[in-house]
Amino acid sequence: MNTILIKIRSHLLHFPLLLFQLLFPLLLTSYFIGCGDYRKDKITEEIITEEKDYSQVPEGLPALPVPEYNPITKESVDLGRRLFAEKIMSVDSSLACISCHDPGRAFSSSGMRVVLGYNKEPLNRNVPTLINKAFFPEYLWGGGAFSIEGIAHDVLSLPNEFNNDTLEVERRLSSHPDYPGLFTKAFGDDARPSAHFISYAISSFIRTLISGDSRYDKYIRGDSSALNDSEISGMKLFFSHKVNCSKCHSGPLFTDFAYHNTGTTTHYFDRGRFYVTNNPYDRGKFRTPSLRNCGITGPYMHDGEKATLEIVLDNYNRGGRLFIHKDTLMKPLGLDKQEIKDIVAFLHSLTDEEFIERNVMDFINMAGQEAETRRPSWYSCR
Ligand code: HEC
Ligand code: HEC
Repeated sequence: MNTILIKIRSHLLHFPLLLFQLLFPLLLTSYFIGCGDYRKDKITEEIITEEKDYSQVPEGLPALPVPEYNPITKESVDLGRRLFAEKIMSVDSSLACISCHDPGRAFSSSGMRVVLGYNKEPLNRNVPTLINKAFFPEYLWGGGAFSIEGIAHDVLSLPNEFNNDTLEVERRLSSHPDYPGLFTKAFGDDARPSAHFISYAISSFIRTLISGDSRYDKYIRGDSSALNDSEISGMKLFFSHKVNCSKCHSGPLFTDFAYHNTGTTTHYFDRGRFYVTNNPYDRGKFRTPSLRNCGITGPYMHDGEKATLEIVLDNYNRGGRLFIHKDTLMKPLGLDKQEIKDIVAFLHSLTDEEFIERNVMDFINMAGQEAETRRPSWYSCR
């Protein structure tokens, strides 16, 4: 145990100040989403939980699909987490995955309508959560990608993301004091920091982001006090034939993994699924997002155009705006104000707070913030 701890500590000591600067907004977010009792001994305990069985998922979720070519190991996950926050992979060392996928926001954007990519260029799509992505057969709002590895690899060179040359990324990590050793530990003696293994490590880390312990989950597992009356009414409406949310947001992940148009606007600048299939019938269709943790992933929809869950619900209540490919399930619902409130309350009960806090703490720990004395003064949970 002790040697493991020392090993981890020694990594932490080398951690660049840059990372802490990067994590500062993240620390703030974590402060706002609520605090637990993060005493030093508790953190230490978490760091040394070494022998985690990554195939274990919360009750009610499907079995975790892990590709044979990239098995999940503690070493690859730890390396992936560190790379996830590593800015030197972007051409001007300004961006990391974490800049857009904020752990305090369930790995979605930091609440911004328009997210800025490389050179502060606005991105045209909203940043989706990365939680439970291991279960998804296709990725991106239009389903244009088939593996997490593929996306992680592409980000390195995409002009509006890291905008770097993969050879340059490899050169930078190879001349770093820590990375070469971490890659051999994760992938074997011959492994060097290559774009291939970078994408493998980050993907393994993302595959471990499994969340299924929200208050709603506790309720359906038998804890009848986990939801209040308003949340229970909202849940009943959500699953009812009258409201039909669960026709598309179905199953334990609240998605049918299919593409629909929900009439969020009358003009779709982004053609969504059409870019992938070239089928005119697919214009304006987007993948049904999972609603787990949606209480903290706003703004909403593919373009981040809906700022709050109440605004999302208004659109559903109206039956969506006029659009030629709008789904036939989209029709006026006639919900009153209280019913809308109840559904929104139910959606908030899908947030897995412990999971979010644990992941935020993992990043804080990683940045060497394990000692209470070193925590910024405003981070006063107790
Ligand atoms: C500049 C912001 C930005 C950065 C940096 C960024 N992403 Fe993303 N990410 C996005 C956006 C926006 C999307 C949605 C794009 C789309 O649907 O076309 C996305 C989508 C994804 C998806 C697909 C999720 C889904 O629901 O299908 C994965 C996986 C992902 N990103 C991983 C990463 C990884 C790994 C990194 C770092 C190597 C990274 N991202 C860096 C903005 C960013
Ligand atoms: C016809 C299928 C369908 C039905 C019915 C449906 N949704 Fe959706 N939902 C979607 C799709 C598709 C999106 C993404 C649309 C987009 O980005 O343009 C979405 C987006 C959302 C979002 C935003 C999530 C995010 O991460 O951006 C929320 C919240 C939501 N739906 C809740 C509900 C609720 C509550 C109901 C019932 C009142 C409902 N949905 C009914 C398909 C559906």
